[in-house]
Amino acid sequence: MALHSLWHSLCWFLALSITGYSRFLTVPTTPFIERNGTSFSIRQLASIVTLIPPTLHEFATTFQEDLRSSLGLEVPITFNKKRGRNAIFLTLTNHTSFQDAAGRWTSEGYALDIDSHGITIAGASPLGVWWGSRSVIQAAVLNGYALPHGSAVDAPGWSSRGVMLDVGRHYYPPHFLIELCSYFDNLYNNVDLYSTQASMELYAAFRPWSEDPALAGLNNRANDTYTQAQFDQIQHQCARRGVTIIPEIEAPGHALAIVQWRPELGLKDLSMLNISHPETIPTMKTIWKTLLPWFHSKTTGFVNQLNDYIKDLGKAVRIWGTFTLAQGANVSKDVSIQHWEYFEDNPYFDYIHNGYNVLNSDDAFYIVGKWSGSYPQYLNKTRVFYGNPAGGHITALWNDYGPNATTVSEAYYSWRPVLPALADKQWGGDLLEAEYDEVFHKIHGQNPDRRISSKGKRILEYHFQNSSSTVADLSGNDYHGTIHGCQIQHSAIIFSDQCYLQTPLDSKGRDYTLSFSVKPTSSVPGALFTGLDSALLNGNGSISNITLVSGGNAYSLNYSLPGNKTFLRVSEGNGAQTSLEFLTRLGVNGDSLVWAPIAIEAPLARVAEGFTGMMRAVSLWGVAK
Ligand SMILES: *[C@@H]1O[C@H](CO)[C@@H](O)[C@H](O)[C@H]1NC(C)=O
Ligand SMILES: *[C@@H]1O[C@H](CO)[C@@H](O)[C@H](O)[C@H]1NC(C)=O
Ligand SMILES: *[C@@H]1O[C@H](CO)[C@@H](O)[C@H](O)[C@H]1NC(C)=O
Ligand SMILES: *[C@@H]1O[C@H](CO)[C@@H](O)[C@H](O)[C@H]1NC(C)=O
Ligand SMILES: *[C@@H]1O[C@H](CO)[C@@H](O)[C@H](O)[C@H]1NC(C)=O
Ligand SMILES: *[C@@H]1O[C@H](CO)[C@@H](O)[C@H](O)[C@H]1NC(C)=O
Ligand SMILES: *[C@@H]1O[C@H](CO)[C@@H](O)[C@H](O)[C@H]1NC(C)=O
Ligand SMILES: *[C@@H]1O[C@H](CO)[C@@H](O)[C@H](O)[C@H]1NC(C)=O
Ligand SMILES: *[C@@H]1O[C@H](CO)[C@@H](O)[C@H](O)[C@H]1NC(C)=O
Ligand SMILES: *[C@@H]1O[C@H](CO)[C@@H](O)[C@H](O)[C@H]1NC(C)=O
Ligand SMILES: *[C@@H]1O[C@H](CO)[C@@H](O)[C@H](O)[C@H]1NC(C)=O
Ligand SMILES: *[C@@H]1O[C@H](CO)[C@@H](O)[C@H](O)[C@H]1NC(C)=O
Repeated sequence: MALHSLWHSLCWFLALSITGYSRFLTVPTTPFIERNGTSFSIRQLASIVTLIPPTLHEFATTFQEDLRSSLGLEVPITFNKKRGRNAIFLTLTNHTSFQDAAGRWTSEGYALDIDSHGITIAGASPLGVWWGSRSVIQAAVLNGYALPHGSAVDAPGWSSRGVMLDVGRHYYPPHFLIELCSYFDNLYNNVDLYSTQASMELYAAFRPWSEDPALAGLNNRANDTYTQAQFDQIQHQCARRGVTIIPEIEAPGHALAIVQWRPELGLKDLSMLNISHPETIPTMKTIWKTLLPWFHSKTTGFVNQLNDYIKDLGKAVRIWGTFTLAQGANVSKDVSIQHWEYFEDNPYFDYIHNGYNVLNSDDAFYIVGKWSGSYPQYLNKTRVFYGNPAGGHITALWNDYGPNATTVSEAYYSWRPVLPALADKQWGGDLLEAEYDEVFHKIHGQNPDRRISSKGKRILEYHFQNSSSTVADLSGNDYHGTIHGCQIQHSAIIFSDQCYLQTPLDSKGRDYTLSFSVKPTSSVPGALFTGLDSALLNGNGSISNITLVSGGNAYSLNYSLPGNKTFLRVSEGNGAQTSLEFLTRLGVNGDSLVWAPIAIEAPLARVAEGFTGMMRAVSLWGVAK
């Protein structure tokens, strides 16, 4: 809650020696009041006690995994109505009045109590318990396992907190979306997946892949789509972390994907549906009727004319604000409105004043991938701390320049340094910038940073001296490789006939330097390195340029390996400031190409499947050159 005074901060400052920080610090902040100078070590935890399944069991299981991965603790789950000794008790309560910023009861509240016997989290609902478990994990990480005795009653000030990711103009694979949810989990409860958004670009994609004949032809891509099973998996994995996926299908504006499918429904501006055409509403009804069973959330975003139809199908409607009542848009009061720009509407006078529910998605925190005349590419930390971002809020990331202006993980890096701070404001916390700077790197989990644990800066080093099928990792980290069918000669591995080298690693995120000596002996294109997030190819089938692949898009670099020459030492690296090696030609706005930096994760799982040639001395360092 937002209501800490400076006085509280000073009191917490006096508690410095116990907690390590001037107060019980979490992001978002928790209004924790310490009782006396003692603490409970989370290492003492012998059990996670929860009520009979299923209400809290799934969250308890995820919490158990987090205790293991964040704190190295193995704690069994038991079922009971009482806590017992050295236990954390996850339970529900209605004895505490959990209130949001407007003083309304909120199901997301929780009461936390820590004493010499353990911890109790009593939530207004399982989701409230979940948010409490995030505070406990973070405080334990930040305070070296010691949790001060004391208590807190915490609740978000606003129920809509989240991000919106434009997946219509850029494909993001399901595993990436699931990882984002685990990154958001202590920050957000709400993610809008923007299913179809296409402005003037030629690239327009309808992501859901339905087998239903009614939608045959709407989505012609076998790749870069979400099947119902994948969508279920994304929703389920995100729900386990308290994150709800809210789908959005844009119409009647920004509907190029639909017009490409049914050209007769387009206006002169093909991104707009002709709402006077008799087939427009039936077509949209068909799309919604087919896809609504996919979506588990109660809210969907759509135009007002379909409100009654969608309401009958059991869902609530949310639309983007643009046309106001004063302009003749008499939208039903059941429809909630997402405000984005003051030049379109005034959220108070146009909507709240007229009895509408409004969701704040003001463009003060918009991001556009890679380029924009007016919007930034990263969240603005100054604005988060010194502007006034408090309030329920959805921050949006748009891909106005289409699928090949950014790689998949560049979306994450646009948010990464500042999103947790914005989450504090969306929750109603009172985190200070100095506190944030101090704890940011400590609360930052493993994924999706793609960190690899290493004894030193050198993460992996292969020299090909033995003809055995195991390639020893000389870095000291024991990331030994396994050869599948390739020969070794003169300290080089010879790749031919689809043979490859498998490593136990997958991807390395920023920062890194991947180096290898390579000599192609054929101009047939093939993979040099492939991993979970990306691939590095020698050629693409028609040109010999080194090619990066990420999220289904291929990016040609501005150099090629010289064929049949001596070994060439290639170093690829990327840091927060992307290095020159990653300059590539990106498509912008459907009509121009510009040279620009691009960032990928180092692909590491497999070396050289399909590539014909030789390689020597492969090494990976955890620093950018
Ligand atoms: C702090 O309070 C706990 C009970 O919550 C008590 O067991 C402990 O002795 C107290 N410690 C001090 C130093 O007063
Ligand atoms: C608490 O009360 C609210 C409002 O009456 C109700 O909706 C909710 O289900 C109750 N929660 C529990 C855990 O009993
Ligand atoms: C695209 O889909 C086809 C058929 O499902 C598959 O063979 C191919 O590997 C996919 N391509 C990519 C880049 O995922
Ligand atoms: C929209 O559809 C109506 C009905 O079919 C048609 O009369 C009108 O010309 C269309 N408008 C445009 C701009 O195509
Ligand atoms: C808006 O629509 C409602 C219900 O259809 C009607 O009662 C109301 O008068 C309309 N308001 C305006 C300003 O047109
Ligand atoms: C960040 O926000 C502050 C405060 O609104 C503003 O003064 C500054 O220009 C912004 N910085 C960038 C890079 O947009
Ligand atoms: C070569 O093989 C031996 C025995 O298998 C092993 O101990 C050694 O580490 C290997 N050296 C390299 C560089 O692979
Ligand atoms: C290879 O890349 C070039 C330039 O980006 C592109 O024009 C060409 O179509 C690509 N070839 C294949 C087979 O993908
Ligand atoms: C391929 O690389 C050459 C330089 O080797 C560069 O001039 C050319 O523009 C690149 N092609 C593409 C499509 O990026
Ligand atoms: C690739 O582009 C960079 C930046 O424009 C340039 O410095 C470099 O010389 C180019 N390399 C080739 C082979 O064209
Ligand atoms: C290398 O030389 C061989 C034999 O002359 C030729 O078949 C092959 O295409 C050459 N490879 C490259 C990459 O130029
Ligand atoms: C990449 O951008 C170029 C230029 O805008 C465009 O021609 C191409 O179709 C784009 N690639 C994809 C996969 O959309």
